[in-house]
Amino acid sequence: MVKPVLEGTVALVTGASSGIGAATAAALAGQGAAVALAARRRDRLEALAAGIRDQGGTALVLESDITDEKQATDAVAHTVAELGRLDTLINNAGVMLLGPVAGAPLSEWQQMVELNVLGLLYCAHAALPHLLRAAGDSPRQVADMVNISSVAGRAARNGNGVYSLTKHGVGAFSESLRQEVAKRYVRVSLVEPGATATELAGHNRPEVLDSIRNQFGQRMQAEDIADAIIYIVTRPRHVAVNEMLIRPTEQER
Ligand SMILES: NC(=O)c1ccc[n+]([C@@H]2O[C@H](COP(=O)([O-])OP(=O)(O)OC[C@H]3O[C@@H](n4cnc5c(N)ncnc54)[C@H](OP(=O)(O)O)[C@@H]3O)[C@@H](O)[C@H]2O)c1
Repeated sequence: MVKPVLEGTVALVTGASSGIGAATAAALAGQGAAVALAARRRDRLEALAAGIRDQGGTALVLESDITDEKQATDAVAHTVAELGRLDTLINNAGVMLLGPVAGAPLSEWQQMVELNVLGLLYCAHAALPHLLRAAGDSPRQVADMVNISSVAGRAARNGNGVYSLTKHGVGAFSESLRQEVAKRYVRVSLVEPGATATELAGHNRPEVLDSIRNQFGQRMQAEDIADAIIYIVTRPRHVAVNEMLIRPTEQER
């Protein structure tokens, strides 16, 4: 039997309780990685962990709000303490609150900056020493940080100002960090999904939902993005997929 590519490695997925994060965690486990699952909804994480264990995998539930610096840092620390190492960080947790800038509730902007930017940074900062160590001493001699941005991280549109701001920031940070650690074999990758059927849009105010509903066209499944992430993290050591923009076929912009 062929050994699964990620056997013996450990991955931490933020926002693993639904959507892209849940699909990615299951797919990583399918490739042999032990997975740490971070998000706020413990019941969802427990259900996912049970499914992974039923398939013979290893899963650790980490109930964490990563907008809190300590909880983010603890999520990384517990992963390493319980599972022994950290080879792969999937920085996926995010929130998308759309609508005009004029009159927008500032609390929505704060939520997006706190999670999409600061939460991601807390996890990246805490994980980096472990990823550098894994790249040095693991059998694969490579480690991965995959940061989930968006099509909105490439192009700003009317109505997505602050979401787009946060995702552009994720892109800039990822590229800078990629250059910093490339020679030490920590690959930093950026994934930019287009419309994907998850819970993401459902957190918008009803009036915003009404105005964006007619923009919903074809959508991908969370598993489609998980596939792309699995492609990235299973490349051989000398290949780094720096950036992936993935739209449903019919999505024009
Ligand atoms: N769906 C799309 O069309 C699309 C397109 C482009 C980019 N993306 C990006 O893909 C990523 C995943 O989103 P999704 O589409 O899968 O949406 P989703 O189903 O709403 O998932 C978001 C995840 O983030 C977690 N989360 C929210 N607040 C958190 C916090 N404070 N601490 C820890 N975890 C938190 C949620 O879990 P809890 O509520 O349990 O904490 C959930 O697991 C996001 O970064 C999003 O911007 C999505």
